[in-house]
Amino acid sequence: MLRQLLPITDPNLLVGLTTGDDAAVYRIGEDLALVQTVDFFPPIVDDPFHFGAIAAANSLSDVYAMGGKPLIALNIVAFPADLPKEIVAEVLKGGATKAQEAGVLIVGGHTIDDQEPKYGLSVTGIVKPGQEITVANARPGDVLVLTKPLGTGIITTAGKQGVAEPVVLSKAIEVMSTLNRAAADAMVKIGVNACTDITGFGLIGHLQIMVHASGVGARLHLDSVPILEGVWDLVQNGIAPGGTYRNLEYAGREVDWRPTVTEEAKVLLCDAQTSGGLLISVPAEKKDALIKELKANGVSTHAVIGEVVEEPKGIQVLP
Ligand code: CO
Ligand code: CO
Ligand code: CO
Repeated sequence: MLRQLLPITDPNLLVGLTTGDDAAVYRIGEDLALVQTVDFFPPIVDDPFHFGAIAAANSLSDVYAMGGKPLIALNIVAFPADLPKEIVAEVLKGGATKAQEAGVLIVGGHTIDDQEPKYGLSVTGIVKPGQEITVANARPGDVLVLTKPLGTGIITTAGKQGVAEPVVLSKAIEVMSTLNRAAADAMVKIGVNACTDITGFGLIGHLQIMVHASGVGARLHLDSVPILEGVWDLVQNGIAPGGTYRNLEYAGREVDWRPTVTEEAKVLLCDAQTSGGLLISVPAEKKDALIKELKANGVSTHAVIGEVVEEPKGIQVLP
């Protein structure tokens, strides 16, 4: 929507609205550019501390996905006036704990009265101009690497319906709370062609933004895509968020699904994620080095899920 409203060109705006990138990058000096992003949303889990931590990890992720280093952040807080103050305090504590882990200072914020609670951060980071990693530079021959398993949208929806196994839900919370910093450090060190983080549009939606912006195609191998424990059962019971079905409807219709790819698998690949992993497009000859570095940094998921091709454009999903 913004793209149509405000066509902006400025020589210092290195990454703006045109590519569908995760954050804006603005040069303020020869060797320094700002990375700026904002994200906030309603609670996706009951526990206020976990909600705060997940929202903060999710907001920081857009800076990591650009290859940037987050420095400071502002809280964005909306709560009903009659909500106990202790609950709000727990949300902020969750966010603050995550920011501290990231080495980011929360230096202020703004709170409004709102019927539906919401929380998130506006994050300011830095990157060296020219070293920002965008979605728009995936190249034929690249390999696609994903750093977190899918399924958090389906699991949190099951959680809201009270039908998620506690062990399944707590694993999803752990995954969503995990910072993408270690994964980003690895990709910055190795040098990659493109990156984005997997959030509301799901793996298919975000990959589609990448291939469109890069003018390439991609082949995904379903059996290589990491999926959280317990998700298949939930999908088979028809449990998935509305956003996931919308993703399947909009992004999914442009995908070349091979006949043996089931409806459940399509839903899963389109599942709207919160604080998902990095999707990295890395030159094939650097793949092993990247995986080694991800492992060394303690990133437990480092799945090679597909490759970038010249033709056909768009996405093919193989079983
Ligand atoms: Co993002
Ligand atoms: Co975002
Ligand atoms: Co204010």
